[in-house]
Amino acid sequence: MTLSSSPLLERIKELEREGLAAIKEAVDLDALEQSRVRFLGRRGPLASVMGSISSAPPPERPLVGKAANAAKKALAEAMEARKAELAPKRRRLASVDGTLPGRKLWAGGIHPITQVMDEICGIFSELGFTRARGPEVESVHYNFTALNIPLDHPAADMMDTFYLEDGVVLRTHTSPVQARVMEAHKPPIRVVVPGLAYRRDSFDPGHAPCFEQIEGLAVDEGVDFVEFRAAIHHFVNAFFGPSVECRFRPSFYPFTEPSAEVDVTCTVCAGSGCPTCKRTGWVTIMGSGMVDPAVFEQVGYDPERWTGYAFGMGPARIAMVRHGIPDMRLLYEADVEFLGQFA
Ligand code: DAH
Repeated sequence: MTLSSSPLLERIKELEREGLAAIKEAVDLDALEQSRVRFLGRRGPLASVMGSISSAPPPERPLVGKAANAAKKALAEAMEARKAELAPKRRRLASVDGTLPGRKLWAGGIHPITQVMDEICGIFSELGFTRARGPEVESVHYNFTALNIPLDHPAADMMDTFYLEDGVVLRTHTSPVQARVMEAHKPPIRVVVPGLAYRRDSFDPGHAPCFEQIEGLAVDEGVDFVEFRAAIHHFVNAFFGPSVECRFRPSFYPFTEPSAEVDVTCTVCAGSGCPTCKRTGWVTIMGSGMVDPAVFEQVGYDPERWTGYAFGMGPARIAMVRHGIPDMRLLYEADVEFLGQFA
């Protein structure tokens, strides 16, 4: 028997081949560990070959020992190399918890004021109001004169602001669109006018110098204060729900007679009084009234035949009531964390 054909040496070569193949085929670290135990473990075939060296003929023994050690070393090295290949894969998998819900992407949303405006216009559309628009850069005539506001009247003083050039202002309210719509159309008219208005107001918890308004105008034969109140009550009930009450408070506007402020229960304090409602329990959401005959005369309507009501509301104020927001500035600062709550 020659040494090269020694069965032990043959066995060692065979084990080395099998071991290397198993290591190469290991798909992950667990499979690699299994092949380590299988080939290099204390009860593995290489260990038992080593254990049987003493049964080999003496001249053969050192060669068998050497071959077994070389096979062990080759397998251990191949195992390390394969481990390095598999390890990063395992680390990446381990850091992903497949049971976690996905991260929500910020996809944007509709601003709470815009939501409120759409909803308000929707409620009035059920009552037969269509939407109208008018220019933000407005003439003094439409902004003041056509609405029976003399330029030296205190009502104009309050809004006398942002002149672009002589006779041209950034509109201080959406009311000028009343006159524009009446000039362009014959009665009956039922319109809501969403849009921006500008005033030299300070930016504080209850005011902004540029803000949204929704104007409303209904003109027809036989429109009276009862119909006006019914429409506003319907709106408040539809928008805020039955827990919010509304009241009409006498007021003055040059373009309505009589005029009223409409207040609703403050939702921040449920009517008990807080800083948002100046401790009154009520928040004013609109100015309103029966259209003054002088306005009808300005646009060429016969005040003996036509009557109507008008209102102007502030959707920012209304959004505050709806969501219990204590400071209007929160709605205008582009704080996505805050605004995202209403998306
Ligand atoms: N234009 C008024 C303002 O901005 C609000 C207003 C009051 C509008 C009474 C109206 C109205 O149509 O009838 O303060």
